[in-house]
Amino acid sequence: MKPLELTRKAGMLALVAAAAAAAGVALAQAQAPDLLPLPEQKFNAAMADLGRYLFFDERMSGDAALSCASCHDPKRGWGDGQALGRGYPASENFRNTPTILNATLKARYHWDGRLDGSDAGTLVRDQITESVFMNMDSRLMQERVKQVPEYVAMWKKFRNDDPNGMRIFNVIGEYMKTVRSTNVPFDRFKKGDASALSAEQLAGYDLFKGKAGCVGCHNGPVGSDGKLHRTGVPENPAITAEPLRHITMLRHYATNGMPNYMNTHTDVGSYGITKDLKDKGKFLTPSLRDLKYTGPYMHNGSFATLEEVVDFYDRGGGAGSVLKPLALAPAEKKALVAFLRDGLSGDAVIVEKPKLPAYQVRAFGQN
Ligand code: HEC
Ligand code: HEC
Repeated sequence: MKPLELTRKAGMLALVAAAAAAAGVALAQAQAPDLLPLPEQKFNAAMADLGRYLFFDERMSGDAALSCASCHDPKRGWGDGQALGRGYPASENFRNTPTILNATLKARYHWDGRLDGSDAGTLVRDQITESVFMNMDSRLMQERVKQVPEYVAMWKKFRNDDPNGMRIFNVIGEYMKTVRSTNVPFDRFKKGDASALSAEQLAGYDLFKGKAGCVGCHNGPVGSDGKLHRTGVPENPAITAEPLRHITMLRHYATNGMPNYMNTHTDVGSYGITKDLKDKGKFLTPSLRDLKYTGPYMHNGSFATLEEVVDFYDRGGGAGSVLKPLALAPAEKKALVAFLRDGLSGDAVIVEKPKLPAYQVRAFGQN
């Protein structure tokens, strides 16, 4: 009796050990994150075609003077090239305008991660209707789109009704899926072209994954873990010194129900959304693609160059940061910058503004 029991026990132990080993392998894989090439993303071509017009169409904003492209300008890396974003007339933003290249592959949107990345339509709705962005009433937007016969005809190619409400937002979201990095050396390298990265860029990639520890947060296809971290980026004094920016910041906190917002003179990051003290000063890990075109960097444009960014990480970040100093040699810093700027950036993605069709009054009774 006894020996059998023992054998059985030993057998079970062996099974348990095998399972643990398998789990260990899975864990090790999960623990070794990496940057990945961009995946394909399906989109509805007819919707994206109309979306392209609407993206560039100033009539989508309240005063018919601002389009998405006014702030996300293809010629400026699909951002605005400024440290802090502009705003609808009589307002300015307190945060940097991010690029929208590859944005639909992100887990979350905005510097404080307040929106779900799988829902581009909701993001577009906020950009169009919020007062600091395009300050547009969505009913008026719908009527304006319907006054352009070419737009109605384009709409009919994918739906059998008239342009309406939320679906118009989704159309711009569909267009955003087409705004992607192209011909990126890093992607070619990952797909087997060993010569796609120069020796220096390759050394930078090794540092990125190794000594510099960047890959812990910057991983996956866009170079973001989709999470919030405190790196201690220095404040940009303009967010309080310039009243139009300060007002936007306080209004943002008020809208999100943050307690004691009137006494807040710094950008508290995701705390403004979660109201959980442990999130104070945390921001979403941004994409690291096409950095060559998308400076200034960070949520408040604090750094004009990638050299400054790398120096910042080398110091172990700023006040309250979770980062440790890196002690990189000058040649290592240079290699890291070369990888970030040239290895991870593709060709400039330029889309020209299409010629926008004019309004035409619709026939009486047809609305
Ligand atoms: C007046 C300038 C302005 C206009 C117009 C504007 N945006 Fe933005 N956009 C910004 C700023 C600033 C942010 C960052 C806001 C934040 O993080 O709090 C942003 C954020 C975004 C993001 C999130 C990117 C990321 O990586 O998190 C997307 C996507 C986006 N905008 C798309 C659009 C689209 C589509 C339109 C047109 C419907 C549009 N924007 C209109 C300034 C603008
Ligand atoms: C603990 C997570 C974490 C680590 C590790 C990390 N980053 Fe970041 N990175 C972030 C966050 C969060 C931001 C945004 C911070 C902000 O705007 O306040 C950021 C911003 C950046 C930006 C600016 C991108 C833009 O578009 O503005 C660059 C470039 C960058 N990181 C490169 C690096 C490099 C290089 C390393 C390694 C030396 C690194 N990061 C390590 C989390 C991290």
